[in-house]
Amino acid sequence: AGAGAKVAINYVVHPESAAALVKEIEGRGGAALALSADVSDAGAVAAMFDQIDRQWGGLDILVNNAGIDGPRARGWEAEVEAWQKVIAVNLTGAFLCARQALRRMTAQKSGVVINISSVHEIIAWSGYSAYAASKAAVGMMTKTLAQEAAPYGVRVLSAGPGAVRTPINRAVWSDPASLQDLLEKIPLGRIGEAPEIARMIVVLASDVASYVTGRTIYIDGGMTDYPEFAHGG
Ligand code: BGC
Repeated sequence: AGAGAKVAINYVVHPESAAALVKEIEGRGGAALALSADVSDAGAVAAMFDQIDRQWGGLDILVNNAGIDGPRARGWEAEVEAWQKVIAVNLTGAFLCARQALRRMTAQKSGVVINISSVHEIIAWSGYSAYAASKAAVGMMTKTLAQEAAPYGVRVLSAGPGAVRTPINRAVWSDPASLQDLLEKIPLGRIGEAPEIARMIVVLASDVASYVTGRTIYIDGGMTDYPEFAHGG
């Protein structure tokens, strides 16, 4: 919104947070819309995009930002329902939204889809096999959709955040011992803040990145640089 886009904010929980964000954007002279859709439900996703069409006549940028990590459990202790829910939101949800967006973007011959992946697209994470698998799959889905959409002048990218201070990892950054363990995994030596991810997404969505497609761009303070190799090896 700060860069001039009208923003449709999808929520599945906390309607009051979505409404507050709409108010904040409007208060600063922007345009925003709060919409409710479970991204893993194809019908709900189709209805959401239809509503955006009715309101604004289409869209130019999709940011697939819905994600869950599921309960921590080693693979052989995990419940299949937990596995399926993570895949349904993180992978199928990103696919269903991208599918709707790409129908519109390929027709208008412009647009950008940005999938929010993770450093766990390439870093294994004990206790989170569904999450890591979903993000690895998002990376390959991104490449394939990018190949399909490129002839239409449409770009498809992923952004791979590292450890960013959000509710998803509050248990880690709010506990001093867990935070210390986490910081040792980050060359820049600090946890990321949400605006540092948002700013990069603005760049990727803009014409500054007009020749970038099919890639995951990591925004991780160097986490994917394997800081353990700063010594020894
Ligand atoms: C997870 C966070 C975690 C980070 C680094 C993200 O994808 O959602 O909980 O802190 O990866 O491990």
